[in-house]
Amino acid sequence: MRLRDLASADRAPIEALLRATNAFTDAEVLVALELVDEPRESGYRFVVAEVDGQVAGYACFGATPCTVGTYDLYWIAVDPARQNLGLGRALLDAVESAVRAEGGRLLVIETASKPEYAATRAFYERCGLELAARIADFYARGDDKLVYCRRYAT
Ligand SMILES: CC(C)(COP(=O)(O)OP(=O)(O)OC[C@H]1O[C@@H](n2cnc3c(N)ncnc32)[C@H](O)[C@@H]1OP(=O)(O)O)[C@@H](O)C(=O)NCCC(=O)NCCS
Repeated sequence: MRLRDLASADRAPIEALLRATNAFTDAEVLVALELVDEPRESGYRFVVAEVDGQVAGYACFGATPCTVGTYDLYWIAVDPARQNLGLGRALLDAVESAVRAEGGRLLVIETASKPEYAATRAFYERCGLELAARIADFYARGDDKLVYCRRYAT
């Protein structure tokens, strides 16, 4: 496994892996791809995990506008054929190293409470992220917004 920056050829494999996870609606996949298509100066940053020369996962993060030292993890996804092998943790570690290297204080990750995201929540909790907030019925009635975070000593 090797971690690297985003390349323009990654768009199609990223779309394929997002769809293969079955975790995202068509609208969510489109939003994820819009970030891939954004010019790099727009502030969205990427880490790509490659296995045997193929894109196996990726993460997208960036400094949260109008904050001092706060970052958002916008997306993290691993090809279902490569899940539970440590790639997600490696991607999250790479994001956190980049945030810390820039003096970031806080990483924020939003997710949903619906049952389909149970594995995602388990992943964040296994990675030691703190559940900092819950907004009931945010995404839909019965589907809360959960905000996980990690604070860094600066
Ligand atoms: C969430 C996701 C990125 C995790 O990636 P992954 O490569 O499978 O995760 P890892 O193998 O690095 O696992 C890291 C830890 O989380 C745990 N974990 C991962 N998936 C889990 C699951 N389904 N249930 C319980 N724990 C899980 C692992 O056991 C591991 O714990 P350990 O190291 O203490 O043993 C991946 O499952 C995925 O792409 N899901 C669909 C997309 C998604 O929901 N993205 C997040 C919203 S943007």
